[in-house]
Amino acid sequence: MTTHATYEHWLVHRSETGDVRHRLQAPGIVSVGRGTSNMLVLAHPSVSRDHAAFEWAPDATGGGTWRITDHGSASGTRVNDVQLVAFQSLPLSHGDCVAIGPMDFQFQRPAATDSLTIVGRATPRVVERIDVLAPAALEAKHLDAVLAIGAAIHAAGDDQSVADAAVDAIARISGFSEVAFVQQSTADGVFAVVASRGPRAAHLRLSHSVLARARLGPVVVSDGCEATGKHHTLARLNLSRVVCVPVELGERFFGLLYVADGGAFRTALEPVAALVRSVAAVAALALANLERLRMNSALEAEQRAMFDGTIQALVATIDAKDPYTRGHSARVADFAHLLAVHAGLDEADTNRARLCGLVHDIGKIGVSEEVLRKPGKLTDEEFQQIAAHPVIGHDILRGIPRMSDVLCGVLHHHERFAGGGYPHGISGENIPLLGRLISIADALDAMTTSRTYRGARPMADALQEITRCAGTHFDPEFAKVIISIDRRALQSVVGMHVFGAPAISPPHVASSADIAIARIHPGATRRTA
Ligand SMILES: [Fe+2]
Repeated sequence: MTTHATYEHWLVHRSETGDVRHRLQAPGIVSVGRGTSNMLVLAHPSVSRDHAAFEWAPDATGGGTWRITDHGSASGTRVNDVQLVAFQSLPLSHGDCVAIGPMDFQFQRPAATDSLTIVGRATPRVVERIDVLAPAALEAKHLDAVLAIGAAIHAAGDDQSVADAAVDAIARISGFSEVAFVQQSTADGVFAVVASRGPRAAHLRLSHSVLARARLGPVVVSDGCEATGKHHTLARLNLSRVVCVPVELGERFFGLLYVADGGAFRTALEPVAALVRSVAAVAALALANLERLRMNSALEAEQRAMFDGTIQALVATIDAKDPYTRGHSARVADFAHLLAVHAGLDEADTNRARLCGLVHDIGKIGVSEEVLRKPGKLTDEEFQQIAAHPVIGHDILRGIPRMSDVLCGVLHHHERFAGGGYPHGISGENIPLLGRLISIADALDAMTTSRTYRGARPMADALQEITRCAGTHFDPEFAKVIISIDRRALQSVVGMHVFGAPAISPPHVASSADIAIARIHPGATRRTA
């Protein structure tokens, strides 16, 4: 097989409408495949998306040779019936028959085109022809790679996916045998391969001296510059070309993209280096975005934890003032959440119901302990103090943005459905939904937990009482819903949040729920409200 210094050659394919000639203009690369980004698009299902490439390999005399390289295609590439192994490259001579999958071509010098002999076994459904020059080919490949990784990164949810997308894109485009994403331990400086691709990816030949240098900036080396003695490790590793580019954004260093090959086939290295630099820039941006998302997520979690801690502190403060009803707020929150879920409210509203249950009695902070713990009958003035707790709670919480959605429930959880409750005495659906919902949850807990002056009522009795008061004290629709809930689910709430209850029964302390019960059953408490 001889080579030719003639730069321009033809790739000839016979079709039903006549011969189709594809000009191979040196210097350059003509990518071939089913993908529309190729320079020569062969729209046949048996042709791989990125099947093969013709590339001009210049020699020292100023001439050169056209070579063909299979890109790991599924249906294979053959030259004169010799099957190329994946990523194998062969020089071409005039008259060579090149089979790309099921499609046959003949490699011709221009002078010989008048006497072409076309070898053909299959006819493509569509053949598109694009004559190319090297810059256009490389630009298109480059752009394709960057777009590919951009799309992959857009869908990537973690660092590993970004690394995989980066090495996939480079391996697919460059044809280099070893492509890797390498990270360096901050503790001991050891390099670790995070992702790798290419036919020799399982046996990566990492040049640690190149990796160390690339930490400071892109490194492009070939055995051509090895003569200087600067890259003796390439020879030891039997590598001919290495490109290594840091993946970094500003001061943030994420790792290194390492691209190496040991083949004798010479191609311009700078276009590959440009490709790796572009992919590294896109990958760095993606990794920085993921890092920022993680930081934001951590910050949100911290803020949420602080918020939850604040709520718990407020609830603990109520418990400290009203020890016998310890756990009341937490149980009301659970009842309210159960009721909201079974009422078919959406997740945001069910979460609001739980939060509102936790803080509904926060206004008791503003009521004196003497009044809260007074064992005897309350005076009108003392009752007015207790009855002020929804308004006090509303005023305490209204300055907190995350509480804005539950303020109405705090303010109106002692309204009655038929009117006559407090603080506003509104009725029916004029009472905000959260207020109607918390009202039932509040009463249910009051009835099913014990007091010094009475024992806890059975769940069935409490539900019967709510049914009896549906439409007068309680929203009848929510009353129906609470009755429909599995008793075991309701009963499990009663047994919760009782830790820390006083070992010695304190004097009876009127809770807001007690007041609600007193209104259902005048005389049910030792005090009248
Ligand atoms: Fe209350």
